[in-house]
Amino acid sequence: MTRSFLDLADAGPDGLRAMLAEAQRRKEARVGWPKGKVDADAPLAGHTLAMIFEKNSTRTRVSFDMAMRQLGGSTIIMEAGSTQLGRGETVSDTAKVLSRYIDAIMIRTDDHAKAVELAAEASVPVINGLTDRSHPCQIMADLLTFIERRGPVEGSRWAWLGDGNNVLHSIIEAGSLLGFDVAAATPEGYDPDPEIVEAARRVGNRPPILTRDPDEAVAGADIVVTDTWISMGQDHADQKLAAMGPYQVTEQLMQGAKADGLFLHCLPAHRGEEVADSVIDGPRSAIWDEAENRLHAQKAILLWCFGKI
Ligand code: CP
Ligand code: NVA
Repeated sequence: MTRSFLDLADAGPDGLRAMLAEAQRRKEARVGWPKGKVDADAPLAGHTLAMIFEKNSTRTRVSFDMAMRQLGGSTIIMEAGSTQLGRGETVSDTAKVLSRYIDAIMIRTDDHAKAVELAAEASVPVINGLTDRSHPCQIMADLLTFIERRGPVEGSRWAWLGDGNNVLHSIIEAGSLLGFDVAAATPEGYDPDPEIVEAARRVGNRPPILTRDPDEAVAGADIVVTDTWISMGQDHADQKLAAMGPYQVTEQLMQGAKADGLFLHCLPAHRGEEVADSVIDGPRSAIWDEAENRLHAQKAILLWCFGKI
């Protein structure tokens, strides 16, 4: 069985819960092992993942690579600029060719439609490693981090501050699928995609809360999340930075969250822009666990794609 993971909805609530449980189980089982050691059952022995990068990456690249090693498989990294895809070979032809060599494809690209086309044309699973629309693998790590620190996500309240971007879109989708509240404070002109908000309203019984007021979003939150104000592919615009100013996550803002409210950031961070040093480096920040959990979540995503969960 092969399945693609382009968005969280592809797995549905049961699939997401199964993946999160598997990620936790494998993480706990690895305590004390060298990082490259293969898990005892080597469930992906002989499998190869091709990773296409049309944008930069540190965490996604290394965590998928190590995830495949730990599952007994291997990877081929394809920087789009040095492939024929980068010279205009079509997504469709690339999908068909890669499907003859390798067992799964991860793609990081700009236009989400490219990832969708790749999945439609490939005969192997395709994983969205970030598009301009969404970043589902990141949110799997965020969910895992929350569960480890605070228990089930169901019924919790997540606050988002800043740009209505790809990471927020996947958090909104997760909230609707798993049943937690997402309150997003964004400045005018930088709202999340209305299509994604509408889809969440249709699917879930906890519609996303959209506001311009950072304090309102953070009030009573179990977790506060932010991200860069300028995503990859966007121009540095003074106008945007100015609009985002009031949405910086500061210690004062964090006081509105629950007393044990956590802070998450997918990284890379711009300290002093979207978040104050004292918050991202402070006691409520779980960013290093979050980054580590990319690895554990990735392993579960890969196993789900191969029908092993
Ligand atoms: N959070 C994240 O996706 O990081 P990279 O861009 O380094 O992969
Ligand atoms: N929103 C950011 C996330 C980076 C991991 C971007 O798309 O650049």
